[in-house]
Amino acid sequence: MKTLSPVDFNLSLLEEGFTAQDTVDQTINESSMGDDRDAFYVCDLGDLVKKHLRWAKALPRVTPFYAVKCNNSVSVVRTLASLGCGFDCASKAEIQLIESLGVAPSRIIYANPCKQASQIKYASAHGVQKMTFDSEVELMKVARCHENAKLVLRIATDDSNSVCPLSVKFGATLKGCRSLLRRAKELGLDVIGVSFHVGSMCRDPSTYTQAISDARCVFDMAEEFGYKMNLLDIGGGFPGSEDVKLKFEEITAIINPALDKYFPTDGGIRIIAEPGRYYVASAYTLAVNIIAKKVIMNEQSASNEEEDDETNEKTMMYYVNDGVYGSFNCILYDHAECLPILHTASSTVLLYNRFIYFFKFQTLVLIYRLLVSFEQKPKPDEAMYTCSIWGPTCDGLDRIAEHCRLPDLQMGDWLLFENMGAYTVAASSNFNGFATPDIHYVMSRPAWKCMQQINTQGTPAPVEEAGMACVAATCGRESSVDLPTKLCQNHVA
Ligand SMILES: Cc1ncc(COP(=O)(O)O)c(C=O)c1O
Repeated sequence: MKTLSPVDFNLSLLEEGFTAQDTVDQTINESSMGDDRDAFYVCDLGDLVKKHLRWAKALPRVTPFYAVKCNNSVSVVRTLASLGCGFDCASKAEIQLIESLGVAPSRIIYANPCKQASQIKYASAHGVQKMTFDSEVELMKVARCHENAKLVLRIATDDSNSVCPLSVKFGATLKGCRSLLRRAKELGLDVIGVSFHVGSMCRDPSTYTQAISDARCVFDMAEEFGYKMNLLDIGGGFPGSEDVKLKFEEITAIINPALDKYFPTDGGIRIIAEPGRYYVASAYTLAVNIIAKKVIMNEQSASNEEEDDETNEKTMMYYVNDGVYGSFNCILYDHAECLPILHTASSTVLLYNRFIYFFKFQTLVLIYRLLVSFEQKPKPDEAMYTCSIWGPTCDGLDRIAEHCRLPDLQMGDWLLFENMGAYTVAASSNFNGFATPDIHYVMSRPAWKCMQQINTQGTPAPVEEAGMACVAATCGRESSVDLPTKLCQNHVA
């Protein structure tokens, strides 16, 4: 096995006591010294490691096949490959990306029920066998283009309670499954399992229960045609951040008993999932710079004599250097709501950073934190104004947020947007000539060590399930990754 090197991940390891947030501060301070205050991301790849351990604990029976469409950055997929994840690819290019990392084709599911014939031939030539279908036409195409396909029947779900429904486009009805299985048999195709997707950002966990029970029906139906299926794919739909009503563990608490009921452990069924957002959303923070500003006098308030609050007299329009044609395409395509956080650390932070870099003493880190926290505290008497935030293009559609409350900001000030890793960079364009932001990848040393251990020894079994002494070694403030001291084999086949 190849030794992992930070260079291959294009990442900087964080000095002890430092966090991804410090990288945001430092990058802002460095770029604020020059003219180019370009928008940028900081991606904490250690957050992916954390998510991976959390997944293993919450869904011990389910192997994650990360949905590449969600964020196809090489550093991200390389991290997940090193952690032993499988991959859900929707196209030839996504398969090529995963192949280029040296991932075995058995760790790929070509999870697009409507594929181009030439791309099925590519999958065939490259040993990618698992692929989804939901129509007779697709079956005939696969019969022509792929001799050794292992087919997975995608069924529709009631995803009316999900933010981004998918079953409007994909998934066979239970009624339709019988004729599809019959046709597959006639064509001599191998159907090995069932998949579904409850819709992205699922808000009703009972959708999973219903879909798992429906999948059981299809497994039983398939036996009538002589198929002994062995793969259940429960798709994606899991939240990627904590700012949601329904937490990840609340969903998995519903999924696990449903799996145990309909697919008991002794049934020999392999269970996989296709999480996208779950793994990457919270790892990314986007920093944008205010490039222009307009002050709009509110005539109604100004003429109201009883109104003496000056913050109601004007509203602000701030223009920043990334918008809905770039990272914020998630507002249009992913129904995202993006709320800004004001960045207030001053250039003195950079001096502290430099100082501490040379004198890595914990006390200095503490002094630094104290000083930064003083600087970042909102001033209690600071006036707040209603404002809207706009992207840099010439399109009126390019609005990021409205009705925000922020202090009176100036050109050159920075705004931060957290949880920006899912369906953002993957779909952004350079419309109007605006470049996509640079991404600074970072990871704490304990997280790096943990990833290396998982890479060589497999994902640790959760302590409760394994009953083994996986002592959690706390990694200090820079990361809350629980570093197991003992690991056990749980690699993706
Ligand atoms: C087939 C398939 N699998 C997985 C995903 C990832 O979903 P999520 O990001 O909600 O986990 C998607 C998203 O569109 C999808 O279409």
